[in-house]
Amino acid sequence: MIHTETNADRMLGWMQEHLKDLVPEIEMRAKAELAAEINRLKVEREAVILGHNYMEPALYHAVSDITGDSLELCRKAAETEAPVIVFCGVEFMAETAKIINPGKTVLLPAQKAGCSLAQSITAADVRALKAQYPGVPVVTYINTYADVKAETDVCCTSGNAARIVAALNTDTVIFIPDEYLARNVARETGKTVLFPGQSAAGCSGGMGSFIAWHGKCEVHELFQVQDIENVRRQFPDVLVLAHPECPPEVAEAADFSGSTSAMIRFVKEHPGKRYLLLTECAMADNIIAETPESEMLRMCSHRCPHMAQITLEDTVAALQKMQYEIEVPEEVRVKAKRSIDRMLAMS
Ligand code: 13P
Ligand code: SF4
Repeated sequence: MIHTETNADRMLGWMQEHLKDLVPEIEMRAKAELAAEINRLKVEREAVILGHNYMEPALYHAVSDITGDSLELCRKAAETEAPVIVFCGVEFMAETAKIINPGKTVLLPAQKAGCSLAQSITAADVRALKAQYPGVPVVTYINTYADVKAETDVCCTSGNAARIVAALNTDTVIFIPDEYLARNVARETGKTVLFPGQSAAGCSGGMGSFIAWHGKCEVHELFQVQDIENVRRQFPDVLVLAHPECPPEVAEAADFSGSTSAMIRFVKEHPGKRYLLLTECAMADNIIAETPESEMLRMCSHRCPHMAQITLEDTVAALQKMQYEIEVPEEVRVKAKRSIDRMLAMS
């Protein structure tokens, strides 16, 4: 990482050395100038940049002060002392940073960078679930908006979901909104998956049940077992890593399933191998910049259009114009924060 460099020529030299196979030469100078300008503005604004693992290589390696998966970025957002946080990720992530840091200015460089999972459930849906299953704890994936978190007992991420469920030590859990994450975590924790309207009584196989929701990640739901079989036929030595937002049969067929940072750790711990990552394609580029001895096969036909909203150009504009500021109504924020604080305490 070179996230403090403010000289465009030195930035270009670094990019030519470290990102040469990842950023086209024709774009390199423009990206180096933008990155150096972002680093200069960061100091002027006393800002910190949090970059999700899905950011494009120049944003990820050349300007982000802290990178990570949702859980790591949430933890770091809680620790930072900078008065301004620029969140290079999607809206629910920036909103989470604001919930934890009400006194700070939190900026999202795109006016709207959504998420199909966050879009899949409303606060009214959660209230209806609680009315249908009174007393059952609500565990909500962090990929949701503040008003849904406000109706939640404890949040979780793909990096800690199984641990949170185990720590609750209850038979039945409302686990929302990602159906596939629910199915994958249920497999890991021995739970049965039910949907609203189905009775929990008599269905649990001893380890209890998840009341799930039909939310899906529009990117990960597209991966299929056939993709894994095809790539293994062509490259028998390939190691397939799948995000737990993938369908359960895909996660099960993979060699490893974990959060974005868990996948990165796996590659770093097993260098020099050939990989296929069933997740947003930009992450493979970010890994290769650090571990060029590994080989990444890419399925770049499945991209997250929301993460791709965040660009170097818009990050410059965010710091120049202090846009787009994230706001959360105080009564919602206070309730939502409890569910995030519980998650951080439990993980
Ligand atoms: P991670 O928490 O694993 O980074 O996942 C976030 C996400 O949105 C995956 O699509
Ligand atoms: Fe949401 Fe899927 Fe994009 Fe992640 S990859 S931000 S879960 S739409």
